[in-house]
Amino acid sequence: MRRLIGTSLKMHFTSSEAAPYFEEIRSLTEGIDSCDLFVLPPFTSIWVAREKFAGSNVAWGAQDVSPEDWGPHTGDVSAPMLADLGCSYVEVGHSERRRDYGETNETVARKVARILHYGMTPIVCVGEPALGDAAAAIGHVVSELRVGLSLVDASDRDRVVIAYEPVWAIGVGASAADPQHVARVHQGIHEYLCSPAGGAVDVRVIYGGSVDPSTAAPLLEQEGVDGLFVGRAALDPSFFARIARPAEPDVAPSNGGRPKEFPDRASCIRR
Ligand code: PGA
Repeated sequence: MRRLIGTSLKMHFTSSEAAPYFEEIRSLTEGIDSCDLFVLPPFTSIWVAREKFAGSNVAWGAQDVSPEDWGPHTGDVSAPMLADLGCSYVEVGHSERRRDYGETNETVARKVARILHYGMTPIVCVGEPALGDAAAAIGHVVSELRVGLSLVDASDRDRVVIAYEPVWAIGVGASAADPQHVARVHQGIHEYLCSPAGGAVDVRVIYGGSVDPSTAAPLLEQEGVDGLFVGRAALDPSFFARIARPAEPDVAPSNGGRPKEFPDRASCIRR
């Protein structure tokens, strides 16, 4: 299965800051053809991504979408609007949206349906809230998928990407999940999706949660890990490039080569 490696910028970078960031990502990832790459900026910088990544091997997309297509929904952005900006991928159900906006699996299902309807690829985030054993994690994520994918037509099931993102492994202070745990949960997700109840499809399941250049390779070595979803480490484009090119010699970090594996946000902003 072709690997998928991407990042969500979450709520980082103004459009002016995003432009040079995209340019650097583009130049550092040029020529990578062993995997698919994507960047999900905030809504305000999607037009910049379209400009900077046009004709490159980096796709762009959004971090969320409205479950409605049009109408009186102040502040929302809909799937046809994202499709019009050339988005290929749309993330749904990230734990920060579940936490901040009470997003439910039912809402996720409605969003996934709109994303597919407009020809884009949903990246459906699932993950258990606290560290426990793999069996409990599988039970949790399968219950999320059962509802989150419930509105997907059988013929569209193979167009979905699943992101396994254990909530406890995300963000500052957290560490990436143990590769063995990730392998077991990915296996469980694949088994569910390959079963008749899951739609009998083999789709890409990518891992997200404190991925950095040092954890990327051991995670990607696991069977059933079909890619990575990078958060804060990718705020430095050279870190993203190092993650996307695990088999190639390291690209020198643009932060001066400090040994830490997570960049300071301040050092990543190039005005
Ligand atoms: P993180 O974010 O890499 O900063 O932990 C990952 C994510 O939320 O997908």
